[in-house]
Amino acid sequence: MKQFAVIGDPIAHSLSPILHQETYGQLGIEADFKKIHVPSDSLQPFMVSNNLDGFNVTIPHKQSIIPFLDVLHESAQTIGAVNCVHDGKGYNTDWIGFLKAMEINNVELTGKDCVILGAGGAARAVAYALIQASVKSISIFNRTHEKAEELSLWIQKISNNKTITHEHTNTSHHVDIIINCTPLGMWPDTESVPKIEIQKGQILADTIYNPMETTWLKKGKDLGAKTIGGLDMFIAQGLASADIWFGEKISKKIKLEPIKKVLKSELC
Ligand SMILES: NC(=O)c1ccc[n+]([C@@H]2O[C@H](COP(=O)([O-])OP(=O)(O)OC[C@H]3O[C@@H](n4cnc5c(N)ncnc54)[C@H](OP(=O)(O)O)[C@@H]3O)[C@@H](O)[C@H]2O)c1
Repeated sequence: MKQFAVIGDPIAHSLSPILHQETYGQLGIEADFKKIHVPSDSLQPFMVSNNLDGFNVTIPHKQSIIPFLDVLHESAQTIGAVNCVHDGKGYNTDWIGFLKAMEINNVELTGKDCVILGAGGAARAVAYALIQASVKSISIFNRTHEKAEELSLWIQKISNNKTITHEHTNTSHHVDIIINCTPLGMWPDTESVPKIEIQKGQILADTIYNPMETTWLKKGKDLGAKTIGGLDMFIAQGLASADIWFGEKISKKIKLEPIKKVLKSELC
């Protein structure tokens, strides 16, 4: 039987095993998916000794795993973070998950003015996705100004100056889409909200999926924004990983609603 896993620290609350077991159940695949607690000082022994057929990588190893891999897929190389490993090769499927979530929710990205809240790993993956979708502009709003500036320069570089960037914006006038890539609002600190104005008609996308609807999204909905939670992105990044591990389009064969139903029942 094929063996898969997600590694991280902490890992106890990961929903990846439920997502993948449901997928295997739907398709009648004989495989197992575990969560493995790997603290930072155990990453090297884990990499040397594991016999897994593939695994997902979460906090805090998305960058620190890179020196232990033989090769990186182009997107993981550019983003500088890996969340999926197969056969010694590192991939990034977070950006694919974000694009898929936008597609499922009928969000057209091309030509749009976007704001990213945060400048960490998720922000980078989302920025990469927005560039692939040819948005018009990306503004970064981040607590640490230097990191916003760094991300802004990176966006200009990888888009060959095709994407207009602004760093440390705190206004959302003339903005079509705002994406929260900070942990503000994530369980258990569910009352925290990003400090940015919301305009009627804007699209708000959260990368947080626990809770399914953050306080920020609830507030946005009340103000007349269209809102999208992070669960679709989470499911799509997992299915994109399964596509890599099995070498076939698992993601095209899956019914999303039953998976969502099971995951929802696990969320706070
Ligand atoms: N749905 C999905 O599939 C998916 C996939 C990946 C990540 N995510 C979510 O994305 C979020 C970010 O993850 P990450 O890996 O990007 O984390 P990260 O690399 O640690 O970056 C976090 C960012 O949030 C900012 N931040 C943290 N605490 C803050 C606070 N109290 N106030 C204001 N800003 C704050 C940080 O600002 P500084 O630069 O000032 O430190 C940093 O820019 C998490 O909630 C994670 O669950 C979801």
